[in-house]
Amino acid sequence: MIPILARTRRGLDAARHGMTPPVVLVPTMGALHDGHRALLRRAREIAGTDGSVLVSVFVNPLQFGPGEDFGRYPRDLTEDLAICGAEGVTVVFAPDRAGMYPREQLVTVDPGPMGQVLEGASRPGFFTGVLTVVLKLFQLTLPDVAVFGQKDAQQLALVRRMTADFDLGIAIDGVPLVRDPDGLATSSRNRYLSASERATALALPAALRAGQEAAGDGSEAVLAAAGQVLDRASRGDPPLLPDYLALVDPETFAGVKPGYAGTALLLAAARAGKTRLIDNMPVTLGRE
Ligand code: PAJ
Repeated sequence: MIPILARTRRGLDAARHGMTPPVVLVPTMGALHDGHRALLRRAREIAGTDGSVLVSVFVNPLQFGPGEDFGRYPRDLTEDLAICGAEGVTVVFAPDRAGMYPREQLVTVDPGPMGQVLEGASRPGFFTGVLTVVLKLFQLTLPDVAVFGQKDAQQLALVRRMTADFDLGIAIDGVPLVRDPDGLATSSRNRYLSASERATALALPAALRAGQEAAGDGSEAVLAAAGQVLDRASRGDPPLLPDYLALVDPETFAGVKPGYAGTALLLAAARAGKTRLIDNMPVTLGRE
């Protein structure tokens, strides 16, 4: 099946009229890979044979800081359309910058305290940019359900929270993180990595696994075990440059206190060369 391609708001409106419910939205920045494909499959499953899957492809300038990779972020709409076709997508909405932001975006979404930590602390303004474009996409496409990946766990938690706090009435579905066979979380940015940087980057999932394995000894042991693997990698060649390592409550993103019982999220971010990578794994604490 070849998806309908809408490049403008008017094109989207026309395509949206023909879409049978439930309408399931998958927001992306394109350069689609196996992680995105898992979302497309999940969306098709939720939509069923009669419903519609709508994928947005838009590299959102509002969520890139100065000096980040907006200019060189991979863009390949032809390949994205082929992947969407293979996964049974009904409509692809791929606006240009003026289509998404016809005027300066003066009013934006404040992500609140959950948006100030971890990714929000490392990338000021990032979650304001993400939530603003997601809210606009929700308004433009009026989906019944929207699908996001657990790879960007803090983004998923913030989208859930925005949807609840603003009574948007859209069901948010989270899809488990997809990894390449070597263990690295699949990402559009992985194509920036040289072979040696990729080998270095594997310390990120290795650290999280080491943390998971220490779960029986409590939260401090989890952080210590993961931290050791990251420390070692930071002395490697090329080095892994860790940004943060944290063990948080998956809903609030507050750091877990000693004695926490339940499933927590162990998250890490690091750079290999110029490429920034994030990863996370669940850790079950306090249940023997
Ligand atoms: P992008 O990085 O293209 O990711 C689009 C969606 O795919 C996100 O929900 C992300 O979590 C999911 N995803 C990416 N890699 C994944 C993996 N390895 N496993 C599971 N899911 C994965 O995230 C964005 O775009 C943007 O911030 C966006 C929400 C589109 C707003 O601009």
